[in-house]
Amino acid sequence: MFDLIVRNANLPDGRQGFDIGLAGGRITAIEKRIHAVAGEEIDATGRLVSPPFCDPHFHMDATLSLGMPRMNMSGTLLEGIALWGELRPLLTKEALVDRALRYCDLAVSQGLLFIRSHVDTSDPRLVTAEALIEVRERVAPYITLQLVAFPQDGYYRAAEGAKSLERALDMGIDIVGGIPHFERTMDEGRLSLEALCRIAAERGLPVDIHCDETDDPMSRHIETLAAETIRYGLQGRVAGSHLTSMHSMDNYYVSKLIPLMAEAQINVIPNPLINIMLQGRHDTYPKRRGLTRVRELMAAGLNVSFGQDCTMDPWYSMGSADMLEVGHMAIHVAQMSGIEDKKQVFDALTINSAKTMGLDGYGLEVGCKADLVILQAADVIEALRLKPTRLCVVKGGKVISRSAPRIGELFLAGRPNRIDSGLDYVPKTSS
Ligand code: FE2
Repeated sequence: MFDLIVRNANLPDGRQGFDIGLAGGRITAIEKRIHAVAGEEIDATGRLVSPPFCDPHFHMDATLSLGMPRMNMSGTLLEGIALWGELRPLLTKEALVDRALRYCDLAVSQGLLFIRSHVDTSDPRLVTAEALIEVRERVAPYITLQLVAFPQDGYYRAAEGAKSLERALDMGIDIVGGIPHFERTMDEGRLSLEALCRIAAERGLPVDIHCDETDDPMSRHIETLAAETIRYGLQGRVAGSHLTSMHSMDNYYVSKLIPLMAEAQINVIPNPLINIMLQGRHDTYPKRRGLTRVRELMAAGLNVSFGQDCTMDPWYSMGSADMLEVGHMAIHVAQMSGIEDKKQVFDALTINSAKTMGLDGYGLEVGCKADLVILQAADVIEALRLKPTRLCVVKGGKVISRSAPRIGELFLAGRPNRIDSGLDYVPKTSS
């Protein structure tokens, strides 16, 4: 007996037309044909069924605050930080919770059920931490929300940066964050990484650092982060987010750096949407793209997972909680146009992110948790191209979101007049 059977599903690994049986909060069968009854059955009709999407890098305290108190006119990271500094004293717990819960509703409808959010700890009031801890509890039945103590104004640069970060960890924030490229000097950035890795080692916590989010080829904090990771035995528990300076670094230096990062088992989190928007703003032409070296890092065996970073906030005025939008941009900016490239990008939105976040029981295999998404696409390649409707989102074996399929009608004489999503006339395996 199953609680739910999803029939005729295509799986991300290419298996087609399989039935998936869910019982007791787990996936208990994946077979060509399950001969059993279930509390509920859904016919996926040859659509892609995926594990839920994961976003390993987000800012839920800032989301949906676009225009408060004004817009970012230069479009730069630095004006975004200044603008957030203007908004910060005006933040209330109630408003933070309200915006975060609204974002989480949108995330569920997009099949995004695992989110790691940085939480600004610069304001000693720590109203952001208080609010996001409450949100973490309230959304726990449907979203796994991890929180990173993030000293937005600098661990050393802000007056009480170091103290506030530790207080936030004491409150129950899960992960140690940092921003070495925003400290006053390169040396203070290096020292901040030493301190943050030590704190993580002492508390037994993971580390996730906004690292080298600049176009400066000499911003080399990732080297220190990798070295400190090894020194404190934190291999596999440390993430380097953004790493955009790697785009501009000298190639010889990078040939030494990437093996060091691999030795430290750094989890790499590029954020293609925000960084194609923010980086290169000081360039005339040619303008640098500012995405880290995705293809090279993947080829070296590093775990690469893509983050969304922002949605409608001082840094990024776009966004829709859609991780396929993130993957779509990654394909373009990292020039990952091949079929195998695209499969790697899909993995970077799902299983790689789950590894970065240390998720237990994640995946679409027997024994994994009964969480999945049915998409209006035949396979992962089509999903990345179309960013299709998430027809059904299942959490713990129960449907928590349904969306109507996109169906259009044409009125052209002598030709088929019904089109499913209006786009599926191209071969499924096109690249
Ligand atoms: Fe960020």
